[in-house]
Amino acid sequence: MKVVHLSVECFPVAKVGGLADVVGALPKYQRTLGIDASVVMPWFDRPFLAQHSTELVANGTIKQGGDYLDYEVLKEQEDTLGFPLYFIRIQEKLDRPEVYCYPDEAEQWIAFQHAFLHYLHQQEELPDVIHCHDHHVGLIPFLLKHALDYRDRFESIKSVFTVHNGQYQGWMDWEKATLLPIYDTWKWGLLDWDGVINPLATAIKCCSAFTTVSEGYMQELYQDANGLQDLFKIESYKAEGIVNGIDEAFWNPETDTSLEKNYSKTSFRSGKSANKKWLAKNYGFSSTVPLVVFVGRFAFEKGADLLPKIIDELLEKSEVAVFVLGSGDETISEQLAERVKKYEGRLATFFGYNESLAHKVYAAGDLLLMPSRVEPCGLNQLYAMKYGTIPVVRGIGGLRDTVVDVSEKDGYGFVFPDPDAEQASACVIRAVNTISEKKQFDQIRKFIMQLDYSWENSAKKYVKLYHRLVESYDA
Ligand code: ADP
Ligand code: GLC
Repeated sequence: MKVVHLSVECFPVAKVGGLADVVGALPKYQRTLGIDASVVMPWFDRPFLAQHSTELVANGTIKQGGDYLDYEVLKEQEDTLGFPLYFIRIQEKLDRPEVYCYPDEAEQWIAFQHAFLHYLHQQEELPDVIHCHDHHVGLIPFLLKHALDYRDRFESIKSVFTVHNGQYQGWMDWEKATLLPIYDTWKWGLLDWDGVINPLATAIKCCSAFTTVSEGYMQELYQDANGLQDLFKIESYKAEGIVNGIDEAFWNPETDTSLEKNYSKTSFRSGKSANKKWLAKNYGFSSTVPLVVFVGRFAFEKGADLLPKIIDELLEKSEVAVFVLGSGDETISEQLAERVKKYEGRLATFFGYNESLAHKVYAAGDLLLMPSRVEPCGLNQLYAMKYGTIPVVRGIGGLRDTVVDVSEKDGYGFVFPDPDAEQASACVIRAVNTISEKKQFDQIRKFIMQLDYSWENSAKKYVKLYHRLVESYDA
């Protein structure tokens, strides 16, 4: 079985969030199950590509509107990630340092998808499945069937589409339709949702099957999917929720080279304490009180706007220290920076993206806070648990699926119902009280560190899905 994953993020080449972690790990685990899985992504002007050699495997030219675009397909030569990794490079379009936020993003992703199809069309051996991740590659399931110059060879290819985040849909004006490869124009309705081209909606309509990154999130999408809930309901016959896993090659406190001190699930006290002391010393806060950490994008969906108020409540009502690692909305950074001055020695921050610091923070924390409004899966709570840091989360999506409140049978975390600052701080305080019960605290830490959120189980579910699709006879 040959499977090609298409994504614009892949760790460690280009990472903005959890999408990269998933695409950088899942194919590796699928290969251990006998699947010939590879990844195709855009080329980025990033350190990984400066440090690793690639070889040119193909090139060609596509027409985008009035322009002819030359593309190159390059393959990473050292098998660094444990699966074949291909890049599509187009000068001045797919050769930039950042993953997102360019004004011509629609043109970039259309060019990526078109060049991929053009390249694939010339290959002798075609994949059985193309697995597309998020809206950036959402037009592929449509183009496989309706791009006039290519579909002759693609009829039997199945497409799987994974919704990592249904909030973002890749909307573009109909003017952009002229940039697409020539397609069956009478099929325009498959591209449309509410008068604009909506690549996420297109993918859901046209794919052979779609998945979400937790079962809970799937159920939520039927209620509220940023306008697409009815579509998700209509297409639910081909839906499956498969929770993400952890790549233990990178996320294991026993072997993690980013940590100040390694530790295991049977002997973690001194290791966690050494990491906490390191963080406290380097960022200037007390290491003798419980440490609450937040790691993530400063975005509304993450509930990051609630942080300033939560911090006020917490630091006024209890003896804790807080460390925030994140970037995004500048207003949030400013509000947090003001509080760092106000609560000197009890609150510290790092504004920006720092992979190795994130590992240290998961190791150093006692509690991890996630007040998310929307959380399709959430990897932070899985990493935190693996590192013995107890999650305090709003019960939504993947957080509800992976964290069970201590008040329930076999519970091991702290869950609050709404994205609300008072509820969040009250829940953290409830968790802090548990920390003071040393025996219970250690029991929970031990328990969460041995929970199995490895990729093996989820990778198997994807493989089962691929087999089901490939072995069925319908289109
Ligand atoms: P999302 O993809 O919605 O941002 P996830 O929980 O799935 O949320 O994944 C977030 C990933 O990004 C995790 O690997 C987390 O450690 C990482 N991350 C988020 N913000 C930062 C940051 N500022 N520095 C380093 N890593 C970060
Ligand atoms: C998205 C979601 C996050 C999920 C990640 C990986 O970015 O916001 O919840 O864990 O994708 O699937």
